[in-house]
Amino acid sequence: MGHKEYSDTLDEAALAYGEAAGETRSDIPPAPQADVRAEFKHIGGRTPRIDGRKIVTGAAPYTHDIKLRGMLIGKILRSPYAKAEIVSVDLSRAKALKGVKAVLQLTEGTAHFAGQQVAAVAAVDENTAEEALRLIAVEYKPLPFVVNEDQAMAEGAPRVYAERPNVDRLREYERGDVEAGFKQADVVLERTYKTSVEIHHPTETHSSIAKWDGDRLTVWDSTQGVHSVRNALAATLGIPFGKVKVIKHYMGGAFGSKLGLSNQTVAAARLARMTGGPVKILLSRRDNALCVGNRPSTIQKMKGGVKKDGTITALSLVNHTSGGLRGGDSCRVPFREVYRCDNCRVDDFSVFMNTGAARPMRAPGHTQGTFGYDGIMDELAAAIDMDPLEFRRKNYTTKSLGGTGDPYSSKGLDRCYDLGAEAIGWPRRNTTPGAGTGKVRRGLGMATQIWGGAGVPGTLADLMLYPDGSVEIKCGTQDIGCGTRTHMAVVAADTLGLDPEDVTVKLGNSDYPYAPISGGSLTVPSVAPAVRDAALKAAERLKQIAAQKLEAAASDLVIQDKKVFNPQDPEKSIAYQDLFRGQGRLRRETIFHGERKGLPEGYAYNSFGAHFVEVEVDTETGLIRIIKVVAAHEVGRIINLQTAESQVIGGVTQGISATLFEQRICDDTTGNLVNANLRDYKIATSVDIPEIVPIFVDMVDPRINILGTKGLGEPPRIPVSGAIGNAVYNAIGVPIREIPMTPDRVLAALKSKEAGQ
Ligand code: MOS
Repeated sequence: MGHKEYSDTLDEAALAYGEAAGETRSDIPPAPQADVRAEFKHIGGRTPRIDGRKIVTGAAPYTHDIKLRGMLIGKILRSPYAKAEIVSVDLSRAKALKGVKAVLQLTEGTAHFAGQQVAAVAAVDENTAEEALRLIAVEYKPLPFVVNEDQAMAEGAPRVYAERPNVDRLREYERGDVEAGFKQADVVLERTYKTSVEIHHPTETHSSIAKWDGDRLTVWDSTQGVHSVRNALAATLGIPFGKVKVIKHYMGGAFGSKLGLSNQTVAAARLARMTGGPVKILLSRRDNALCVGNRPSTIQKMKGGVKKDGTITALSLVNHTSGGLRGGDSCRVPFREVYRCDNCRVDDFSVFMNTGAARPMRAPGHTQGTFGYDGIMDELAAAIDMDPLEFRRKNYTTKSLGGTGDPYSSKGLDRCYDLGAEAIGWPRRNTTPGAGTGKVRRGLGMATQIWGGAGVPGTLADLMLYPDGSVEIKCGTQDIGCGTRTHMAVVAADTLGLDPEDVTVKLGNSDYPYAPISGGSLTVPSVAPAVRDAALKAAERLKQIAAQKLEAAASDLVIQDKKVFNPQDPEKSIAYQDLFRGQGRLRRETIFHGERKGLPEGYAYNSFGAHFVEVEVDTETGLIRIIKVVAAHEVGRIINLQTAESQVIGGVTQGISATLFEQRICDDTTGNLVNANLRDYKIATSVDIPEIVPIFVDMVDPRINILGTKGLGEPPRIPVSGAIGNAVYNAIGVPIREIPMTPDRVLAALKSKEAGQ
């Protein structure tokens, strides 16, 4: 049995994710550049979601809401053991229960984590399905296991995988000569920063409904990738891709846990085939904590060397990261890219454990790495008595240091530093960390963000012009809650001189033209340029029609405010609707194909940002209160300011929650999660969230795509923990090097400071 079978996760999507977030190039010719800096009516403005009313009134259908005639309910039985041999499985009593339509064994041999699927049932209703699960008799032989990092890394620990060690190399990176670099330094610090396992916990748990019509399968799935699920599901079932259709209308969050095919989708399809009727499987909150991914923990041992003038001479990182049954997250990218340093080394090691396999979670590796990296930066700055922001400005780079070595196509990080520092009132910080007195101490801190998110070349969108003048766009992308329908509508509307509500957007269906997973901050920079491309072609056609009627050259005309006219002679115009009447009009529906073209070679494509945080730390209780977060980002052109701000507020909120509260806790005697619910797994509530001020640098990337826009999904999550950590350090004069920064950890740090350690 290979890793894939019991990893309970999604190799293909993770792969696609890695590529999309990384350094891929396309050989498709560069996009036309002529209009990248065009001015627009709606793009960049505040357009409320075109489907907002539907969402807030409960009319928008989520996968959970979908009910089909004759639909059966599927349930999955899971191993209670962190590792056990499955000696025997007796399905006979479950099969005999009235109302049970199918029973299926899913795992033979060994169960590798508490939560691994063992068997599934489909029954007429939920209670019958539950009862059937109880009637399945499984004999287990428990085996030795490891469920925390110390256990897994210990000498002689039980092996998770027979064929590889529990601690195994993940990635490595080196430039320059690190040892020589440390010799040049005036100050060398060695520090260990740690992050815990986080759970994605989307509001809407994972769910799938499968329905067969002969040899054709339709699946309604709560997914970030209708195309990726279609492909992986068809491959798993051994049927052609074209026989499978995946639909996702609305989604209550995902954060990486729904990038590709999940086991419950396969189980629903198999049960549906056995029963002949549609089958729905909806995972519980507990299932969501156990078996559909998590953010790997990290133990980051870092060493940094600086000269008194602020030159960084060498940096090294040894990262031990655990994604349970799957490899962990490399922290190398922020470590090697963000600040100038000639000598840099990173060693990432995966630590395998008998816990549910990790899945990518909002900026995998960058989020954890930035906490450690920006933490030691502040400690180094303090050691040479330099302002942390000045230290970062001194080590600024306009070229990719560790990747391609190419210059960034655009980089507005310096503007983020200026705008963010001004908005938070940076000069108010304690010049010396911990200089304040009294029970409650205030501090300011900041951290830097880098991410990819240039989008995926080859993304397609079709724009249909109907003979009545109505406009429809089809794209096999997803709206995972970020407002994709609205982005698509404003781009098409501005290109065709219409209003967003004039455009019908169709997405979330694998029968529509190809679009990538909605993950890796890919959606806007993939889909918006494809829509723009299709709409430019449609606009061209409409201008040709207008040119005949106006007896003008099509190239002299513009299409704006529901009119076509020559700007030199604006009195003479033709109304948009009149293009669809009389001679020479579009007589039938006409389709225009749009494509997101390739990225010009020779540049690095990244987004940047800097967060500035003000905190209050109660030195008696150890409680941290966030006073304010200023989140400055440069992501090229903003398509819709309203949803962009929402994205930032959401990312910062999630970051505050992870930094102060979130950690998965496993009982190392039973191997089970002790907080697999939303009462014991603490998530921030509205009272924990302060004023959040999003700032966007006014910049258009000249090359990245025809709209000059970069992805924003992950960036606002990346620097939050680092900025909070540095603010706490500034407040109390001692860093908290582990998240979550719970009161006990704050008090322990204060105590160690008092003891002069
Ligand atoms: Mo993601 S980790 O779905 O951007």
